[in-house]
Amino acid sequence: MKIEFTLNERPVRVDVAPMARLLDVLREDLRVTGTKEGCGEGECGACTVLVDGRAVNACLIPAIQLRGAQVQTVEGLARSERLHPIQQAFLEHGGAQCGICTPGFLMAAAELLHREPHPSRAQVREALAGNLCRCTGYQKIVDAVAEALS
Ligand code: FES
Ligand code: FES
Repeated sequence: MKIEFTLNERPVRVDVAPMARLLDVLREDLRVTGTKEGCGEGECGACTVLVDGRAVNACLIPAIQLRGAQVQTVEGLARSERLHPIQQAFLEHGGAQCGICTPGFLMAAAELLHREPHPSRAQVREALAGNLCRCTGYQKIVDAVAEALS
């Protein structure tokens, strides 16, 4: 069945199976591969994208629910050649190592930015609580987001 939605500010139309996951439609059908799969069970946050401004796990969302929605992935953060301030802060603070978790953290932080332009450190930690990282120990990620949104 065909669905239409907006992906990173561009209209897309794609033919999906009834239970196809948003994650697979993004990566396999639309070839937008910045969104990563970690657990595939809604536990790690690696697949976080924004749907109508809200952070969701793309591994849990049937793509068919996206009719008419605004979807933003990590590819939609940078503006032309300029990194988003959160991406720049990750770079400067060493907030990414293997990088598998990074798109999910960036999108969770982007949602926080929409909700709360100047969050406290506690709000940053709370907003990122659903995202797991095996490499960094979290401190550099929290530092990066806290600085970018200060
Ligand atoms: S891959 Fe979706 S939450 Fe882990
Ligand atoms: S940088 Fe490797 S899992 Fe986070």
